[in-house]
Amino acid sequence: MTSIQVKSGKPTHEALDVLAVLLFEGDALDASIDRATGGAAARAVELGDFKGKLRQTALLYGDLGRAKRVLLVGCGPRKGQSLERVRRAAGTAASEARRLEARALGLVPPPAQGDLAPAGVAAAAAEGAALADYAFDRLKTEDPRAKGEAQADGSPAARAPKKARPPLAVTVFAERGAQEAVATAALVAEATNHARDLGNEPGNRMTPRALAAAAQALGRASGFKVKVHDEQALRRLGMGGLLGVARGSAEPPRLIEMEWAPPGHARGPALVLVGKGLTFDSGGISIKPADKMWEMKFDKCGGCAVIGAMAAIARARLPLRVVGLVPSTENMPGGRAVKPGDVLTAYGGRTIEVLNTDAEGRLILADALGYAARFEPAAIVDLATLTGAVIVALGDGRAAVMATDDPLRAAVERAGEATGELVWPLPLDEGYGEHVKGEVADVKNLGRGREAGTIAGGWFLRNFVPQGVPWAHLDIAGTAWASSDPGKGYLGKGATGWGVRLLFELARARAGEAGSSAKKKSAKKKGAKK
Ligand code: BES
Ligand code: MN
Ligand code: ZN
Repeated sequence: MTSIQVKSGKPTHEALDVLAVLLFEGDALDASIDRATGGAAARAVELGDFKGKLRQTALLYGDLGRAKRVLLVGCGPRKGQSLERVRRAAGTAASEARRLEARALGLVPPPAQGDLAPAGVAAAAAEGAALADYAFDRLKTEDPRAKGEAQADGSPAARAPKKARPPLAVTVFAERGAQEAVATAALVAEATNHARDLGNEPGNRMTPRALAAAAQALGRASGFKVKVHDEQALRRLGMGGLLGVARGSAEPPRLIEMEWAPPGHARGPALVLVGKGLTFDSGGISIKPADKMWEMKFDKCGGCAVIGAMAAIARARLPLRVVGLVPSTENMPGGRAVKPGDVLTAYGGRTIEVLNTDAEGRLILADALGYAARFEPAAIVDLATLTGAVIVALGDGRAAVMATDDPLRAAVERAGEATGELVWPLPLDEGYGEHVKGEVADVKNLGRGREAGTIAGGWFLRNFVPQGVPWAHLDIAGTAWASSDPGKGYLGKGATGWGVRLLFELARARAGEAGSSAKKKSAKKKGAKK
């Protein structure tokens, strides 16, 4: 885990392996930093070698007693400046530090100007660095004995897990006032990296039972409650969707129920987060082609994001009640598997015609969305790697958002803008509801083939959302993992943890609003008394 601290002193006075100086185009170079490189930094700017273009770098050598290296990193043009550009530049700095096998990294955030606040800029820099300082290498092994030495008995038991690469120790140079924002960014980044770990774990290790155990461990460590419903409990609850999908697998399903209920918010309306936790999606009887099927270990990333968000929300002790629900199963084509044409009964009694067993995410989410009614939901937000169609529509740039409530959708959009986890709206007009009306059952899990596939998925889910509850559905199939380096500077290949930061920001904003409207109300009361 990356350690992050804030210091308000002079960056050039610290012993650092790399001192990264983040600059927008045209920003003036600090004279003391230039001096630390013996004037090389200014020359790099004068010669035009470093212009400050986004993620451009110049590596310079300094005083071996202080900062051994100074790394200039570009944040791009001031016009259109954003925290996302700072995140990318800081991520680039951390990646470069890792390449140099550095431990101590100093970050000088770019000067805050215009609509960027100093604390926000410092926090974005910390976040970018912590996210870039991530690798999923726990499954690699090495021979602990000297390299090249012949193995005495040739036994594979002689190998050991590869020594974990030491994490970066990051110092962000900023005013004391930035401390809280940086600490929050650090804990949210850590929760995001935790979600990435869960997502990157292969299906044979991260089974539904293992995912539930991981949530329980994280709940103990972070202070949220976790209840795990096994098959017997699921049968009692009548969760025919989740049980139906699980039929083809040897691994039993689980419903992971999490709750953060801080003092003063133990009961009452909750923000309910729901995440698709398919630990492996083979497609079932409607089996997928072999090409890239392995990537379907990532089909649990919506659930992983919800688990990660619960940890961040609890650790930040946000003053609102939040419930997380993650239905989890494999989708496999076993002899007892659900078959095309079969009819399942979801939680709450609605019947579903399963026309394609590969449209399984909506079947397990149907149960969880219905179950959310138990928590007096003020709003429900679900995250799911639901459709390949959303990748066709939006690629890896944005997730799709569909909602029954304009203010909730707008809040999700704002949280996306603030965190760089961007969303784009798709409509849920009544007409699309026709696409998933059932022939022999209430609804069917397949729309009109290639026509509006993502919206059909959204509309299917809408049928199971408790009446009158504001709900937003995020289809994250394009953003939950990266098949190749997305070139952002702070995220590599594999699970991205997409959604942890957005959900945390959404919860934080809601907690703030509730607090301020309560204050306003009490202020009004006081005013009325006068
Ligand atoms: N998990 C997949 C969606 C997916 C596909 C995510 C490719 C990322 C990459 C989901 O369960 C699925 O298979 N959806 C089907 C639905 C269809 C049968 C209506 C799809 O998108 O093809
Ligand atoms: Mn599927
Ligand atoms: Zn799936």
